[in-house]
Amino acid sequence: VSDSIMDSVLFYTRNLAVPARRNVDDPQVLKGKSLFHQANCQGCHVPSFTTGNDAAEPELANQTVRPYTDLLLHDMGPGLADGRPEFLANGQEWRTPPLWGIGLTEAVNGHTQFLHDGRARNLMEAILWHDGEAAASRDKVLAFDAEQRAALLAFLNSL
Ligand code: HEC
Repeated sequence: VSDSIMDSVLFYTRNLAVPARRNVDDPQVLKGKSLFHQANCQGCHVPSFTTGNDAAEPELANQTVRPYTDLLLHDMGPGLADGRPEFLANGQEWRTPPLWGIGLTEAVNGHTQFLHDGRARNLMEAILWHDGEAAASRDKVLAFDAEQRAALLAFLNSL
């Protein structure tokens, strides 16, 4: 493609907004948010970053973004391993996916399949597949009662 088409595509993708959160003040969502932190989900799904000074476009500099990822690789245990090393990731490591917009997956994509190979049929299954470095977080969720799990899901669905 020409430089001008490339520039337009880059401009478009860089400036695409993420969907606004929904139900942020709902008591169940707020409870779920606190459980998300109690289970140390934010250890990898980091809620907030500020973009650098040297962003590709001045409008994108020094912006607070809330991607819920650390963009890093983590050993997620043998259950999620595919045994295929790719660049810096060994066959048991995955990059923390961003959770922004995740509550709109069904509305936008018409399905609720999660994880790198879509094996999780819903958000709770995705959480229960967490192992390795994330085993302690998964165990906290396993210890939650039904009401706490529903609150955690309500929070995830508000993202
Ligand atoms: C040690 C880091 C780590 C911790 C702690 C962690 N996660 Fe994750 N999470 C990941 C990684 C890496 C993946 C991707 C795994 C894969 O694709 O197989 C993931 C995937 C997910 C997904 C699926 C996202 C998608 O787009 O497919 C959800 C939902 C999720 N995590 C929620 C949580 C919740 C809730 C907690 C806390 C109970 C949590 N995570 C704790 C690293 C972590």
